[in-house]
Amino acid sequence: MRKPLLAGNWKMNPVNRQGAVDLARAVTPAAAEHVARVEVAVFPPFCWLVPVASAIDGTAVGLGAQDCYWERTGAFTGEVSAAMLAGWCDWVIVGHSERRGLFGETDEQVARKATAALEAGLSVIVAVGERADEFDSGLTEQVCRLQLSAAMQPLQAADAGRLVIAYEPVWAIGTGRNADPAHAGATMAVVRQVLDVAFGREAAAAIRVLYGGSVNAANVASYVELESCDGCLVGGASLKPDEFSTMIGAVASVEARR
Ligand code: PGA
Repeated sequence: MRKPLLAGNWKMNPVNRQGAVDLARAVTPAAAEHVARVEVAVFPPFCWLVPVASAIDGTAVGLGAQDCYWERTGAFTGEVSAAMLAGWCDWVIVGHSERRGLFGETDEQVARKATAALEAGLSVIVAVGERADEFDSGLTEQVCRLQLSAAMQPLQAADAGRLVIAYEPVWAIGTGRNADPAHAGATMAVVRQVLDVAFGREAAAAIRVLYGGSVNAANVASYVELESCDGCLVGGASLKPDEFSTMIGAVASVEARR
């Protein structure tokens, strides 16, 4: 059985250190209460990773970075390597649609980042998803298959245990327009098929597939109830500790009924 993961991607928030520490601390009670049924991780901006790591040390909340660079060290101004994150971060997200769309990240770069992160010993969330125009043209499956195949290409079956795929339709991110669970479920089932082919069914069974895009306390259960869904990647709602805590409880309730 795959334990559901609720991952809070804080993006470029909060703007000060104390806010980050407070936000992280505020979700630790719910994470502790439901630790048997839900894995919880937060993804602060790079500059708050160190203070947040101290704030959640010894709690049930995991820590991740929102991005990384594939080279280990060297003259790469502004970058932070996967190797630098390893050891005290558990997780990293690669290929988030904001990285792809706003910063021009390519499938090939996403694959290099995922490879470097896994090699460094991190667990990795690889995000994929179609844009609004692609959704409107019925290209969801095709786009996700292409993005996934490119990212999975250099990876090995042995990496599967530390790999998570997040299906995040770009048009659903930060818009309040969450995907219809039927659409999300069907797409996550396609993701699982691709993983089965890439790694073999047995190894792929360890990989969790998440939905992300305007997930909140009111709709989180409708995703995690889906057979093909192993949790959610949450942006905006992860900045509201009460709501995020409610979501942890909601995921635990669904899991308890399984
Ligand atoms: P959102 O962001 O929950 O604010 O839509 C999700 C994400 O970008 O991971």
